[in-house]
Amino acid sequence: MNAPQAEPPAILVEHLRVVRGGKEILPDLSLAVPRGSVVGLLGPSGAGKSTLMRAIVGAQIVAGGGVTVLGHDAGTAPLRDRVGYVTQAPSIYPDLTVRENVAYFAGLVGAPKDQVAHTINAVGLADQTDQLAGTLSGGQLTRASLAAALVGHPEVLILDEPTVGLDPALRNELWKLFRRFADQGTTLIVSSHVMDEAVRCDRLVFLRDGHVLADGTLEEILAQTGAADAEQAFLTLASKEGAA
Ligand SMILES: Nc1ncnc2c1ncn2[C@@H]1O[C@H](COP(=O)(O)OP(=O)(O)O)[C@@H](O)[C@H]1O
Ligand SMILES: [Mg+2]
Repeated sequence: MNAPQAEPPAILVEHLRVVRGGKEILPDLSLAVPRGSVVGLLGPSGAGKSTLMRAIVGAQIVAGGGVTVLGHDAGTAPLRDRVGYVTQAPSIYPDLTVRENVAYFAGLVGAPKDQVAHTINAVGLADQTDQLAGTLSGGQLTRASLAAALVGHPEVLILDEPTVGLDPALRNELWKLFRRFADQGTTLIVSSHVMDEAVRCDRLVFLRDGHVLADGTLEEILAQTGAADAEQAFLTLASKEGAA
């Protein structure tokens, strides 16, 4: 019998360097994300969250280093139906219904047809199935984008600021949904510039100016900084780095 192979981490970022518009956005970023967790990628606007996410899904030209997802190079064919990505801007078609949108994305990843209704139900949009996406509310639109990314049952789900601009009740609902996916074994990376979302995550990555300020559980980061909450911890780490 073969010895069981150690599973590679969900995401491994090694010395990633990204240059955009002649500017070094990510100078040298390394990171490992374990499977089946909800990882919060937290940092202010311009920190490089979206750039890092683009690199993880293979949509970003990379100047150095690399990213592997589930043991494969980011963006390569074996990952096509194993990684879901919801961009900051809605990526579904406003002139198609919810069902038509989700069916279209199901077709792209070769998901079985019966997954379309199932996924729409899972994100709580059963009543909006035949509604044009362009007429959905903000929270419904986010959930429709999620359904489009989820329909192929991805093992890794990259969500770029999915809760921005939503009211607290909707944010709460979405975070419960993310937790449900993680409990089923999905690895989620969720970005936010809102530090109080830290309490929802199993692990946190603090990002500022393309640098990882901290990487660990909220408890670890609070212990390390002596801060009372994520926001204070971030500020403490940022000012330390500024002083160094
Ligand atoms: N196409 C681009 N050309 C040049 N600079 C860019 C481009 N896109 C983003 N940037 C810069 O990269 C930095 C990080 O952006 P981004 O990854 O979008 O950050 P975040 O998602 O954390 O707000 C910002 O300083 C932004 O101005
Ligand atoms: Mg962004």
